[in-house]
Amino acid sequence: MTSNSLRKEQHLHISLQEDLSPPENANGFDAYRFVHQALPELDLDAIDLSVRFMGKTLSLPLMISPLVGGINKGREINRILARVAQKRGIALGVGSQRPAIEDPRLAKTYQIRDLAPDILLFANLGAVQLNYGYGLEQCRAAVDMIDADGLMLHLNCMQEAFQPEGNCNFSGLAQAIARICSQLDVPVLVREVGQGISAQAAAKLIQAGVSGIDAAGSGGTSWIAVEGHRSSSQVQKKVASQFKHWGICTADALAMVRSQSSQVPLIASGGITNGLEVAKSIALGADLAGIGLPMLKRASLSERALEAYMQEIEIGLKIAMFGIGAQNVQQLKNTPYIQKAASP
Ligand SMILES: Cc1cc2nc3c(=O)[nH]c(=O)nc-3n(C[C@H](O)[C@H](O)[C@H](O)COP(=O)(O)O)c2cc1C
Repeated sequence: MTSNSLRKEQHLHISLQEDLSPPENANGFDAYRFVHQALPELDLDAIDLSVRFMGKTLSLPLMISPLVGGINKGREINRILARVAQKRGIALGVGSQRPAIEDPRLAKTYQIRDLAPDILLFANLGAVQLNYGYGLEQCRAAVDMIDADGLMLHLNCMQEAFQPEGNCNFSGLAQAIARICSQLDVPVLVREVGQGISAQAAAKLIQAGVSGIDAAGSGGTSWIAVEGHRSSSQVQKKVASQFKHWGICTADALAMVRSQSSQVPLIASGGITNGLEVAKSIALGADLAGIGLPMLKRASLSERALEAYMQEIEIGLKIAMFGIGAQNVQQLKNTPYIQKAASP
């Protein structure tokens, strides 16, 4: 097993076995309330959850965040995620394809187009790899490997910093991202992995020409915590525990990115767990919401468990829209009926 695959195996194991639950309400959505409309003036059954995003129609504004690949268990999980994504008409990102760029025999652990011919599918690589020998060729290879509609480059400086083998040279990265954006023939989106995109980072990414941003804020799975669990060094573990609140919570990251552009396609993720939070994400300016570990946990149980979870999210989203009289996702996005709750 390569060191990349071993790391993936450990990440998966820790994510599924350890208690990584964030402090309550850490994603920031609890600070917002919808203003209930007793007269929504619409029929619940007439609510339309579909959206257009990156040239495709999704049945609801939802993405399974990039999670796994590179190991056999990852292949099984990606295939469950793909089947459910196809069935429910939602977007899917695969986990970082670096293991398969380095060992092409692993490509099959990411390849799911046979099961999901219609979905919006994103390839994935760590942006920092652009400072470690990766360039257009590897980005193209990742996209072609899975017949993706776009590439997601992830920014994970804190995760790398807490990894003993981390790649921590993030200098000049905005420029390197700009080069890929101008050369790759599919849209390039940039995401964090759970510490959030600030207004300043968003401005740089928009300047670099990204086609979309996943604000990926804190309040959900913390990579600082995962790397803390993985480390065998007591010092690293101790420092990681001191950083457990680091990051911009998802609701704030969303507002920060939107403050820089009302137009940039925007995904909200990080600690989103239910349909009501998906609704809040959209009402606060996102085009889609992304969910990671909660999807992974269900998929590792069974396809049926994942499907039941999807249904729960869909019902929650629909009822939230009903309660504010939003007939479609555009109306939800423009709703005046969301407000910051008064602090206790
Ligand atoms: C096991 C695991 C592996 C992940 N691998 C990747 C990855 O390769 N690339 C990436 O962009 N994000 C990766 N993520 C981060 C997720 O996409 C997501 O941003 C993060 O889990 C926070 O969202 P959540 O609170 O909904 O879990 C991974 C998450 C988990 C749990």
